[in-house]
Amino acid sequence: MKTKSLIAIGTFSFLMFGCAHQMDQDAKVEERIDALLKQMTLEEKIGQMYQLHSNGNVADYKELIKAGKIGSFLNEINPTTINELQRIAMEESRLKIPILFARDVIHGFKTIFPIPLGQAATWNPLIVEEGGRVAAVEATEVGIRWTFAPMLDVTRDPRWGRIAESLGEDPYLASVLGAAMVKGFQGDDLSEPTSMAACMKHYAGYGFVEGGRDYNTTIIPEVVLREVVLPPFKAAVDAGVATAMSSFNEINGVPSTGNSFLLKKVLRDEWNFKGFVVSDWASVAEMIVHGYCADEKEAAMKAVNAGLDMEMVSPLFSKHLDSLVKEGKVSIKTIDEAVRNILRVKFKLGLFDNPYVKIPQTSKIYADSHLAAAKEAAIQSAVLLKNENHVLPLTEKVKTIAIIGPLADAPSDQLGTWVLDGDKNYTQTPLKAIQAEYGKKLNIIYEQTLGYSRDINTTNFGKAVAAARRADVVLMFLGEESILSGEARCRADINLPGVQSQLVEEVKKAGKPIVLIIMAGRPLTIEKEVNLSDAVLYAWHPGTMGGPAIADLLFGKAVPSGKLPVTFPKTVGQIPIYYNHKNTGRPPHENLQLIGSIPPGAKQLTMGYVSYYLDAGAEPLFPFGYGLSYTTFEYSNLQLSKTDLKKKDEITISCQLKNTGKYEADEIVQLYIRDRVGSLTRPVKELKGFQRIHLKPQESKTVSFTLKTDDLAFWNAELKKVVEPGDFDVWIGPNSKDGLKGSFRVTE
Ligand code: BGC
Repeated sequence: MKTKSLIAIGTFSFLMFGCAHQMDQDAKVEERIDALLKQMTLEEKIGQMYQLHSNGNVADYKELIKAGKIGSFLNEINPTTINELQRIAMEESRLKIPILFARDVIHGFKTIFPIPLGQAATWNPLIVEEGGRVAAVEATEVGIRWTFAPMLDVTRDPRWGRIAESLGEDPYLASVLGAAMVKGFQGDDLSEPTSMAACMKHYAGYGFVEGGRDYNTTIIPEVVLREVVLPPFKAAVDAGVATAMSSFNEINGVPSTGNSFLLKKVLRDEWNFKGFVVSDWASVAEMIVHGYCADEKEAAMKAVNAGLDMEMVSPLFSKHLDSLVKEGKVSIKTIDEAVRNILRVKFKLGLFDNPYVKIPQTSKIYADSHLAAAKEAAIQSAVLLKNENHVLPLTEKVKTIAIIGPLADAPSDQLGTWVLDGDKNYTQTPLKAIQAEYGKKLNIIYEQTLGYSRDINTTNFGKAVAAARRADVVLMFLGEESILSGEARCRADINLPGVQSQLVEEVKKAGKPIVLIIMAGRPLTIEKEVNLSDAVLYAWHPGTMGGPAIADLLFGKAVPSGKLPVTFPKTVGQIPIYYNHKNTGRPPHENLQLIGSIPPGAKQLTMGYVSYYLDAGAEPLFPFGYGLSYTTFEYSNLQLSKTDLKKKDEITISCQLKNTGKYEADEIVQLYIRDRVGSLTRPVKELKGFQRIHLKPQESKTVSFTLKTDDLAFWNAELKKVVEPGDFDVWIGPNSKDGLKGSFRVTE
């Protein structure tokens, strides 16, 4: 007892000391900023607020840097150039303020991890954090100290190309994983040379663009904004994210880049964010195109007065802030605040003391440990959607396999979107990985059949079918090329592109088991192809090590464990479709009358008047949280620590999880609640917790979650976050559809 309390006191005083030390450090930074601000001219201040795209030619920037007119560069990745640009700032400019170098390092610098949506399918914050860490270690090696990630835009629309960069549709999952990514990029201490400032983006609402069309308008009621859109950003702020990026879109008529509600009220006043906010690429200038500002000067004024600190690429701040201040339209206090925010991040990064990149003796780029981490991420991100008759994993009985399709050996496409620096020559494709590992034991027939995913040339279909006839199992690698998802890569039709679907139909004629491996940047509407296949493994764009990861999964060296971070629609007409929807006054029931069963001449009043589509029903193809394993898991014995809670109480919800199959494997156990009645209606389910549990065959574990009543709170009509007394349902289960159900009551 005594020792314990001594340790407790020790820990406490250490924490207090740590806290005091941090406060001391922070105060020192503010003092240094004060001292600098006192010396800076208005021109030099405005210079800090300008970020330029580097063309690599130092001479073009020399005079500007000397005059203190550039705060940051994006897209310079040559360390020698970076050091030379920095040298000019540190030696030839009046105040020697270092430049901050930025780049979109989204899911890896050179070693590419699965796209963020794939990483989200791991439901594993440790994997996501490691992905961020590896990216930071590699990118800082060339001098990048600021990345424009994580993208925290919750989205419910797979037509939107940028869903690939997102962490899915759920605010809680995106919050947990987004915070982990921030931690990974920034490390324990921002001033470490391998730490990279993170940038939460796109603040805010960008994932809600109408019709899933990039840059489009958003209309988001404030309760939805606060409940669905903002939580991941809040979580990132709590995790210490250094910077934020305003989004391209307007929300309810106001572009984010000029939105003081977002940039000041929420971000600064409510969340106490201490970093700085950069615009998106020319999004200050785009406020004119939006029809929100008459000219460049007004755009600069509205952006800075709304709380934007740094302008990316468009030069409106540098052109107009000076006269705006002189005319009294922008206060010097506003400028000082913006510059303070920017300098604070530069100080925290240690750039004033260590401005240069030191090229290490041994490079970590593509280090074995990085490749191993990328492989593990790809393994955990793959989602097994179907596995009839245990066709997977492939067994010894399989002697001949046919590998068919445009994505079996597509080193660039499997890397996915936002790969500015990853080298496809380092990519390990599934074809190469399977040939290397199993080429001696198996007869492998490869028919690419289609040159790329959109190819419509069916000339080689005959060869594909012939290969399938000779094989025991057919592995079809289909999906989307990397260029079909990401920024400005939206699709109105999210079927498999080209003639891939017809290819599945043809190959099916060979009568052999078909395993579909899909690589894509979004959910695709693959109901037909799923029905034609025996097994389906959704691999997203899995990155550099996708090949060996998929090979391990197919041959049972690894067991699939990923779960969908987003609902898969059957057809595009169901979008938006998401698990945490409202119930409506007429929720669908199980016996829906579908279009084919309506008798000719049926009278209007003979049919069920509930909320569904005649041609697509009400259910998605696969629900949020869904994913199979090679083993089976049994959920039993749901226990609630209490069924009556007072406000401020905690409740523990637990169940027994047993691995009832033959494979040692992970299961992602999910906790959902439903607030049955609210002063504003509540979703039918809300994710409140998840855990990745590892079990050996026949092993059982108790899985428990603790919820505080605060976790049950929601934003009411007065825009207050409240817990309302009443009845709650709770589920622990393997996805958002299934699970063990209990209930409890909250009273005042
Ligand atoms: C994108 C951002 C990106 C920026 C800089 C923009 O087009 O929307 O996500 O960080 O460019 O490359």
